[in-house]
Amino acid sequence: MMAIVQLAYLIGAICFILGLRGLSHPSSARRGNLLAALGMTLAILGALLQPIAGADNNYLWIAGAMIIGAAVGWYRSARVEMTGMPQLVSLFNGLGGGSAMLLALTEYLKNYQNSTASSLAVIAFTLLVGTISFSGSILAYLKLDGKVRDAQVRLPAHSLINLGLLLVSLVLTALLVMQPSTLILVISLVVFLIYGFSFVAPIGGADMPVVISLLNSVTGLSAATAGFLYGSQIMILGGILVGASGTILTILMCQAMNRSLMSVILGNFGSAAVAGASSADQADQTVQSAQAMDVAILLAYAQKVVLVPGYGMAVAQAQKQAKELDEILQEKDIEVYYGIHPVAGRMPGHMNVLLAEVDIDYDKLYDLDQTNAIIDEADVVLVVGANDVVNPSALDDPSSSIYGMPVLEVWKAQQVIVFKRSMKPGYAGIQNPLFFKENTKMLFGDAADSLKQIVAEIKNL
Ligand code: TAP
Repeated sequence: MMAIVQLAYLIGAICFILGLRGLSHPSSARRGNLLAALGMTLAILGALLQPIAGADNNYLWIAGAMIIGAAVGWYRSARVEMTGMPQLVSLFNGLGGGSAMLLALTEYLKNYQNSTASSLAVIAFTLLVGTISFSGSILAYLKLDGKVRDAQVRLPAHSLINLGLLLVSLVLTALLVMQPSTLILVISLVVFLIYGFSFVAPIGGADMPVVISLLNSVTGLSAATAGFLYGSQIMILGGILVGASGTILTILMCQAMNRSLMSVILGNFGSAAVAGASSADQADQTVQSAQAMDVAILLAYAQKVVLVPGYGMAVAQAQKQAKELDEILQEKDIEVYYGIHPVAGRMPGHMNVLLAEVDIDYDKLYDLDQTNAIIDEADVVLVVGANDVVNPSALDDPSSSIYGMPVLEVWKAQQVIVFKRSMKPGYAGIQNPLFFKENTKMLFGDAADSLKQIVAEIKNL
């Protein structure tokens, strides 16, 4: 039996690694996801078959929990809108941390009087990271879902409070090992829960992507340490893979936002984002608006067009119309590229997923640097539901909350058309001076409707 279990774990581990590799490119991402799911199925089957000395027969409990969990997970995932994915991912991430927290609690209560210091240390560390990941992810979920606003949970000198909470948490972790007792356990649980919450509280606005990927890696770490509790190699391996890929993503996100990892860990950045601060005062400026017909004419005479998708593209589900426009421009020998900012939308790779849905050629997807390198050659840039990622104050307004974040420098093109419904700000809550530039025109309305009208107008030209 043990040989079968080990084989299931080995194949499961290979599936995880190949699955992750598949996720590195949109064309193989679906296959990668399926492979990783197959790996997880094998890992679960292996765990169910693994003979554990002295273990009770808990199959009924396990089956009950799996059926309820699978039903709730399937129901929520099947119903989620594309725009609700980041919240769902955060929630699921929190549940991963919550599971590690519960495992650590159970193991501690069961064995703390007889355990060795080393196994208590593993349990205490699992409790620490699992609990932080749980409460932090729940707050991230509430923020992304708009149920909690950044300003509601941010306190003055929040980074100092966080530093204090971190130190207290580390001392409690040590006490859990050196002075094991249920009282210390209860105090630790409360403090860890508060720290996880407080860790995410001051981070807001445009900085959320960094904290989401960091929480992801913390959950991976908690799964790995929980694996140590049970001597489960597959759990350790799965957790390490999630932790490592989450860490790589965090570093990439930090680079994209131009933030240091230390400032993320101390939770002391993005403070201006909450207030929506920006010194640029556009109150007395007016914008120029365009009609679909004007844009159609501009496009018909262009040679190079860059489309910059943003969160509004996901809201409008305008990718199908973008593809139609792409095809019609291609027929006229007009080059079309897509400028993808790493934090456009609400989750890593959000825009790539949308565009992959309608089979946009991957060669046309340009990253931030590639886009900025060709942007001044573009005759027209279509900013479709993007806002923060094309905000010039990130480069030229030191008082802006997003100052220092690299952005797509679309204003360097000949003409910029911004598709949005109103003058409302984007996620960071700040005004965008791009809208008031001489070479920018606003096309107000739902992005999908506007694109559809433009396609119709081009066909009539
Ligand atoms: P945003 O700055 O959020 O702007 C989106 C724009 O889309 C809004 O200004 C909105 O204006 C417009 N819009 C919404 N629905 C629309 C519709 N149906 N038709 C046309 N326009 C519509 O988006 P972005 O430029 O993609 O930037 C992403 C932001 O989210 C960044 O601040 C980023 O840091 C943050 N964030 C990103 C992530 C990840 S990992 N990508 C995670 C969390 C947060 P109207 O309301 O006026 O239409």
